[in-house]
Amino acid sequence: MTTRPVALVTGASSGIGREFARQLAQRGHDLVLVARNEGRLREVADELKQSCAAESEVLVADLSDRPALQTVADRLGDAGRPVDVLVNNAGFALRRRFLRSELRDEEAAFDVLVRAVLVLSHAAGRAMSERHHGIIINVSSVAGFLPSGSYAAAKAWVTTFTEGLAAELDDTGVTVTALCPGFTHSEFQARAGLSTPGPDFMWLDPKDLVADCLRDVGRGKVVSVPGLQYKAIVGLLDIAPRPLMRRAAQIARRRR
Ligand SMILES: NC(=O)c1ccc[n+]([C@@H]2O[C@H](COP(=O)([O-])OP(=O)(O)OC[C@H]3O[C@@H](n4cnc5c(N)ncnc54)[C@H](OP(=O)(O)O)[C@@H]3O)[C@@H](O)[C@H]2O)c1
Repeated sequence: MTTRPVALVTGASSGIGREFARQLAQRGHDLVLVARNEGRLREVADELKQSCAAESEVLVADLSDRPALQTVADRLGDAGRPVDVLVNNAGFALRRRFLRSELRDEEAAFDVLVRAVLVLSHAAGRAMSERHHGIIINVSSVAGFLPSGSYAAAKAWVTTFTEGLAAELDDTGVTVTALCPGFTHSEFQARAGLSTPGPDFMWLDPKDLVADCLRDVGRGKVVSVPGLQYKAIVGLLDIAPRPLMRRAAQIARRRR
C-alpha cells in the first residue's frame, strides 16, 4: 500500500486555510487540521473524507498558547508520521490601532502571526530537510509591503523570514513560499469588525488565490502574489520611495 502525502494546515476551520485543506485533499493529501474550533474542524474533516476520501487528524490548538503551539510543533517533528506540506495560515487582525489596543491583545496577535510561524517553520524545516523533501507555505499579506501598524509589521516579518528560510533551505529539496494575498473573501474582516473596503475587482476568491499559490509553489516561487491587480500594486510598492509611502500612510490614517 502506498502512503499518501500529509499536509498540516493551521487556521483550517475557515477561509483561506479551509480552501488550502480542500485543494490539498483534491491533490491526494491526507490532512492535519489545526485551529481552535473543534466542531468546525470536524466538519472540514467530514467534507474532505466524503469529497476526496482524504483522512484528517483534528488538532485543536490555540496558537497564541505556548504549550498548545508546542504540541503542533511536536506533530511536525514526529519522524514516524512525516508531514510533507506545512501551511502556516492562521491569523487575524485587531480592530483598533496599536496604541488603542490592549497590549495583551497585541501580544496574542503577535504570537499567532509571528511566533507560531517561527516555531512551526523551525520544526518543519528541520524534519523536512533531514528527509530532503517538503513544502512550507507561510501566509503573509500585501499589507506587509506597507508602513501601517502592527499587523502590517508582522506580515512584513513573515515575508522577509520566508525569503531568508528559502535561501537557507536552497538545494535541500524543501521549498518555502510566502503567499501575499490582497483583500480576500473570508471571515477575516468580520472577525476583526472591519468594513469591507474597496471596489469588487479588489476582492479575491479563496479558490483562485489558493490555486494560484499552489501553481507558484510548483514553479519554486519564493513570494507568491496572486491577482494581476495585486501584482501591479506590489510592483509599484517595490519601487516607491519609502518616505512617500510613510506620507501616504499618514494621510490615509487621518481620513479614517
Ligand atoms: N482575508 C483577507 O483579506 C486576507 C488578506 C491578506 C492576508 N490574510 C491572511 O490570511 C490568513 C487566513 O485568514 P482568512 O482570511 O482565511 O481569515 P478567517 O476566515 O478569519 O480564518 C482565520 C483562521 O485562523 C484561525 N485562527 C485564528 N486565531 C487562531 C489562534 N489563536 N489559534 C489557532 N487558529 C487561529 C481561525 O480558526 P479558529 O477561530 O477556529 O481558531 C481560522 O481558521 C491570515 O493569516 C490572514 O492574516 C487574509
